[in-house]
Amino acid sequence: MPLSNVNDPVFSTEMMGQGVAILPKRGRVVSPVNGKVVSVFETKHAVTLTFDNGAEILIHVGLDTVSLNGQYFEALICSGEKVKIGEPLLQFDIDKIKRQGFDLISPLIICNTASFKEVVSFTGKEVKNWKRSLSLLKINLHNRERGLCVMKEFPADFLWGGAIAANQSEGAYNADGKGLSIQDVMPKGFSGPITEEPTPDNMKLVGIDFYHRYKEDIKLLAEMGFKAFRISIAWSRIFPNGDETEPNELGLQFYDRVFDECKKNGIEPIVTISHYETPLYLSKMYDGWLNRKLIDFFIRYVETIFTRYKDKVKYWLTFNEINSILYEPFCSGGIYTDKDKLTKQDLYQAIHHELVASAMAVKLGHEIMPNAKIGCMILAVPIYPLSSKPDDVIATMQKQREIVFFADVHARGEYPAYMRRFFKEHNIEIKMEPEDREILTHTVDFISLSYYMSLCETADSAQKSNSKGNILGGIANPFLEANEWGWQIDPQGLRYMLNELYDRYKLPLFIVENGVGARDVLVEDENGQKTVLDDYRIDYLRDHLLQVGEALEDGVEVMGYTAWGCIDLVSASTAELRKRYGFIYVDRHDDGSGTLERYKKKSFYWYKRVIESNGKSLSEGM
Ligand code: BG6
Repeated sequence: MPLSNVNDPVFSTEMMGQGVAILPKRGRVVSPVNGKVVSVFETKHAVTLTFDNGAEILIHVGLDTVSLNGQYFEALICSGEKVKIGEPLLQFDIDKIKRQGFDLISPLIICNTASFKEVVSFTGKEVKNWKRSLSLLKINLHNRERGLCVMKEFPADFLWGGAIAANQSEGAYNADGKGLSIQDVMPKGFSGPITEEPTPDNMKLVGIDFYHRYKEDIKLLAEMGFKAFRISIAWSRIFPNGDETEPNELGLQFYDRVFDECKKNGIEPIVTISHYETPLYLSKMYDGWLNRKLIDFFIRYVETIFTRYKDKVKYWLTFNEINSILYEPFCSGGIYTDKDKLTKQDLYQAIHHELVASAMAVKLGHEIMPNAKIGCMILAVPIYPLSSKPDDVIATMQKQREIVFFADVHARGEYPAYMRRFFKEHNIEIKMEPEDREILTHTVDFISLSYYMSLCETADSAQKSNSKGNILGGIANPFLEANEWGWQIDPQGLRYMLNELYDRYKLPLFIVENGVGARDVLVEDENGQKTVLDDYRIDYLRDHLLQVGEALEDGVEVMGYTAWGCIDLVSASTAELRKRYGFIYVDRHDDGSGTLERYKKKSFYWYKRVIESNGKSLSEGM
């Protein structure tokens, strides 16, 4: 029958392409021509093929059969395989499927004729997983010439893993001599007011109690096959106020234990030296990084941890999302002066201090640990012009420079030429000491980045609609969807960003944060084990990792990928726990209740397989 007669709003409107629908008589699908399998759906009820003549076809057994979740279906071929005319592709139990009440009318669609635009305005009957199916097809079509998204393995030494930060996970905010950090007075994250003292509503004071449970947690990460685990050191555990001359031995011992545990489990620690955890005392007494003295305090801390952990840690990151100081000067730079009262002059002076401190850390690190790799860390947000108007393109260039300026200094060892104009136009004069220029020449070994979203820019202020982000908000892209917190999801933006950065610096890149925050629901599986069925997380991560695969194919050198919040933790922007990122669920809630027990989510097993197969499994079900 013609597709238009099919009782299904997605197929009948031909948004997935034109074709026909057939009623299978036997439980088997064979290839109609010679060609190649592009993808086999995870649920094995559908397959896409490219024909030798270039046509791409989707064979979809039944209409809503995706909800059978693979039950009664078997795939006889794999993604990437060549097939001959008449070769069996899928087999299924036709009687059982019918008995479950499913319509076995099966669309056969030529996807090259798809018009995905219509999907945006689609409001018809809900079809489970249709968005996912379409996005898979879009990727497949996009990759038609290669026939497959990621079949190749990732590099053999790819650092697969996850990331957390001390202030969002450790808890134990005043244990064993730790001083207060700025996070201990930020109970509402970036949005709310700061408090004079730590208050009980501050979720970070307990975090997920990583301080006491790190052994159990690292064991779980090892079970997933982690090669790398990114953590940060809480500066105020080592120097409680920040300006002491002697470190806190108990604080140092804690990280000794954590690194030893990583080693025992074959996991490489990736350590952020400063992740939004400036000692509160330095913030209040010195106004954070606005004061040049911070460089000395920081370097004393850096020298202490480099010397102490030189045989335990090889990979170091200086400042987490160093460019975020532009948007969150207190959280990122410990600057106590109110954000609204801070002048651009002061802000860029503080930035200069951080850039000098970062370069000094690189220099010192190379002296103390000749084999270490030291990188910077930027909040990477690709900026797209909202339109092709030249004014929008120039506005986009400026906005992107706001971000890459930080990487430019770290990678090239000097201020970029465009900043001269920026400083002149904003009456900024950076106070530099004579040695600063030489210090900045100590450039990083790699560039690490967090990636969550892209944004748009326009020169037309009338058009400025807002899109939220963790730190950097901006103009929403009309072609992208957003998560519950308003962050727009753009897997291809990651490939784009990786290419841009690599073209610019030719330095290895390390994705040290990526993931999606979501409310998870704890349920019981068929064996009575508590778990979370977080397919949305799997989809998000898979789509992004496939784009990392694309970037690798483009020739970009990517060292590794550490998924953000691999174990649930307290959110940075909103300081809540209901926004979860992990493969491991932590039983703790925003009202402070919960046992702190850990449970493996569905994504735990999915990521384990990704790591085990070194990325190959990503293309399963494509
Ligand atoms: C990054 C930070 O900006 O985004 C992390 O480095 C943070 O600390 C992450 O947790 C996700 O943001 P949020 O607000 O969802 O926790």
